[in-house]
Amino acid sequence: MTVASIALPRILKIGGGASQQLAEVLGSLGVSRPLVVTDSFLAGQGMVERLLDGLRAAGVSARVFTETVPDPTVASIEAGLAFLKEGDHDCVVGFGGGSPLDSAKAIAMLAVHGGVMADYKVPHVQDAPGLPVIAIPTTAGTGSEATRFTIVTDGETDEKMLCAGLAYLPVAALVDYELTLGKPRRLTADTGIDSLTHAIEAYVSRKANPFSDGMALSAMRLIAPNIRRVCADPDDRPAREAMMLGAMQGGIAFSNSSVALVHGMSRPIGAHFHVPHGLSNAMLLPAVTAWSAPAAMIRYADCARAMGVAEEGEGDQSAVARLLEELSVLNRDLDVPSPAAWGIDEARWNNLVPLMCTQALASGSPANNPRVPGEAEMAALYARVWEGA
Ligand SMILES: [Fe+2]
Repeated sequence: MTVASIALPRILKIGGGASQQLAEVLGSLGVSRPLVVTDSFLAGQGMVERLLDGLRAAGVSARVFTETVPDPTVASIEAGLAFLKEGDHDCVVGFGGGSPLDSAKAIAMLAVHGGVMADYKVPHVQDAPGLPVIAIPTTAGTGSEATRFTIVTDGETDEKMLCAGLAYLPVAALVDYELTLGKPRRLTADTGIDSLTHAIEAYVSRKANPFSDGMALSAMRLIAPNIRRVCADPDDRPAREAMMLGAMQGGIAFSNSSVALVHGMSRPIGAHFHVPHGLSNAMLLPAVTAWSAPAAMIRYADCARAMGVAEEGEGDQSAVARLLEELSVLNRDLDVPSPAAWGIDEARWNNLVPLMCTQALASGSPANNPRVPGEAEMAALYARVWEGA
């Protein structure tokens, strides 16, 4: 008997205006002294102020930490933790894209368990809870609002440390697509491709199960027909709503299955060259999918059908060919650059490939791929991606 172990946030509020129900959600969780963890950009835009207005109206006062950074570092998490300890907080509200949400999770866990972040990287699993986290995503991307993972970069080694366990699963997520309206095209494209990658990888993963399959296929059905629409028109409400739901479902899917080789190889690119997470996934997705597909033709063909690029009755071989074509065309349509076009130095890339392979393998994600590469095969894949294949 195979038993799938599924974990979800206790409360999900989904729909336009969901973020305005924060005070009510805090009340239902029995907490009242939140630290809001966000970034300075969102604070400057007035989005945080609107959130705080809602809390004030309900008689809840919050402190706000705005100093999270893209790709959170050990130092930025420690700064947030020190700020939390200056106050008296019983919960942490993460408000923003993947970086503020991942920061909120790490701060909330360390607040209870202490130590340093490196103590908690995989294979360690941190299930004992930290402070309760309420997640409010402002991008349709990481799905972090519904996952049991956080990623923190070790500033000394440039390693993106994957940290796993129920401690990082928010108790509540307020999934409000209206927060994504008007977001810029590049951010929308990168975060959208991240979500699509979560859904595909969760579905082809060796850890896939019937529950994660349903979420992954649903996410692909929502994301594939809408990703170009939100990039063309940042205020397309039905498309934004579909992308937000798809991103959350993609997060649920991989949190209860896993990501795989694309994410394993993507984290080192992000860590060493500071390529945004979704963009480094996009650079890898066509080549890694082409390399992996022969090991799981039926599964990848299902992805093509869910994405609407192959007919329901079409054979697997043909459907997979259409999937590979679509992933390349999608990158072209969304102006995804090659690593060289993004400005990465070729000699530095080549020098770092062996270390990137080691770090990718250490994360454990490649082992979940339907086809598992050795170090030489992974180096060859990095070379293919460099050539823009
Ligand atoms: Fe991701």
